[in-house]
Amino acid sequence: MTLSRNLKIAAAAALGLATSAVAYAQSMKPEDAITARRAYHRVIALNFGPLGAMAKGDIPFSVETFKTNSARMASVSSMPVLSYYQDGTDTDAGDVKTRAMPEIWLDWDSFKQKMETMQQEVAKLAEVAQTGDQGAMKAQVGATGKSCKSCHDDFRNK
Ligand code: HEC
Repeated sequence: MTLSRNLKIAAAAALGLATSAVAYAQSMKPEDAITARRAYHRVIALNFGPLGAMAKGDIPFSVETFKTNSARMASVSSMPVLSYYQDGTDTDAGDVKTRAMPEIWLDWDSFKQKMETMQQEVAKLAEVAQTGDQGAMKAQVGATGKSCKSCHDDFRNK
């Protein structure tokens, strides 16, 4: 088999995967999509909370906890969160409430950019934890928190 044939097959496979991911996302019930994204943010926040408290000196610094929590954050943050913001989920779905602002769908590129920035900052948080350099870890908590706030300010209702 030639290299170019392999590449074509790989490209076709990748395209097939992308298409089925989109199809799946569109077939999610709105209440499931909203529940998924709220859980995504919530789990990341639960793991981030102690790191913020450590950075501020409110609780003793633990490199171990920092490593564990930042690794969990990196794992969860890599989930396909943008697909949970599928069309038609800009309002409450029955009992499932959302604080997502309609601006998300009007300015999708900016929303997407901010999500990717957060994912990069979280990945960096997990990386810097491996160095054990507390100063760098604290600085990266600040950068990560900023990436959360930057999106909430523009795209999340109070
Ligand atoms: C690109 C935008 C964006 C980024 C980045 C972002 N969030 Fe959010 N977040 C939202 C939106 C929008 C909601 C509201 C979702 C809903 O109610 O449907 C939300 C909801 C939340 C909630 C409430 C979850 C619940 O129980 O309903 C928490 C907590 C939260 N985010 C924490 C964080 C933290 C911590 C970070 C950074 C590590 C972060 N978010 C990064 C947009 C973002």
